[in-house]
Amino acid sequence: MRRERSAAFAPGRVNLIGEHTDYNGGLALPFAIAQGVTVRARALAAQEPARIEAHAVDLGERDVFLLSDSSPASGWRAFVRGTVGELLRSGQPLAGAALEIHGEVPRGAGLSSSAALSVALCLALIELAGTEQRSELEQAGASETDRLAIARLCSRVENDWVGAHTGLLDQLACLFGAPDQAVCIDFATLEIEPVPLSLGRWRLFVLDSKEAHTHAGSGYNERRAECARACELLGVGSLSEADVGDLGGLPEPLRLRARHVLGENERVREAVAALLAGELAALGALLNASHESQRDLFEVSTPAIEAVVERVRRAGAAGARMIGGGFGGSVLGLFPPGVDPPPTALEVHPSAGAHVLDG
Ligand code: GLA
Repeated sequence: MRRERSAAFAPGRVNLIGEHTDYNGGLALPFAIAQGVTVRARALAAQEPARIEAHAVDLGERDVFLLSDSSPASGWRAFVRGTVGELLRSGQPLAGAALEIHGEVPRGAGLSSSAALSVALCLALIELAGTEQRSELEQAGASETDRLAIARLCSRVENDWVGAHTGLLDQLACLFGAPDQAVCIDFATLEIEPVPLSLGRWRLFVLDSKEAHTHAGSGYNERRAECARACELLGVGSLSEADVGDLGGLPEPLRLRARHVLGENERVREAVAALLAGELAALGALLNASHESQRDLFEVSTPAIEAVVERVRRAGAAGARMIGGGFGGSVLGLFPPGVDPPPTALEVHPSAGAHVLDG
């Protein structure tokens, strides 16, 4: 039975380490944060043709469109239209609905507000459709298979409706995150292992560079194309399958890109080991090394980001790195006990993954 109301919450994410490895079949270690996007859905009285009325409360903006309308849009509207379009394409029955969207994840800050938006929309719309009507995305993401299907669907929204050729990192972190845990994701197999994030009195903070970025409009797609080209030249399906000894024949900058990916995979393994051993200073050193690699080999940093990394390190962080796709966004800092971050930094805690709320 179709419900009258539904609601869902989906968190943003912080990637502890493992950047630009997702679309290269590698490893990453993200966690879901407490800040996220909430979508409240209300069934509209049956009308033909059925329509969606979306209200982005924080922006004070609206979008009204027919369910049958698959015309493109920009900004947040592209995510709403894309999520609705992809749900319909996957066979999920939908009817007219009013959607109220409220978010606490700073937009463009590299904390994955966009994946949070599409995942929350997906869960709320599937829940509104009601039990009997659920298609292959059954149980509103309750089982692991459903969650993978939802992650893939939301990734198609980014790829096909927004034009950002991003991987699955953000959606998987958002859907599989859990309190006090990071998740180690192997993108070659999509195996997801929880890793306890036991920091004791150490703390993690993010500091926004205020250099807002969009993946579709930055060098992100170009980096992705470079990695695909490097795979072609090496004859491998993904860069993570390459051997570091084989990289010599690649032209620059492709060799630099490949060296970053292989080094970053190794750092994720070492970070998991450091966490399990409680060696947080070692984790800090890995964060620094990851940043250096993003800056010098993958070349996705900017002067504004470098200034923030410097600020965070000067404040006494044991490690600091840019998180997310690069070309702006936030810097993550790991702070030892008793050391305070710059005043505007936001403390982040590993928190619950996306879930349906009581209507
Ligand atoms: C963005 C993308 C992810 C991932 C990271 C870089 O967050 O959405 O898919 O590629 O950049 O690690």
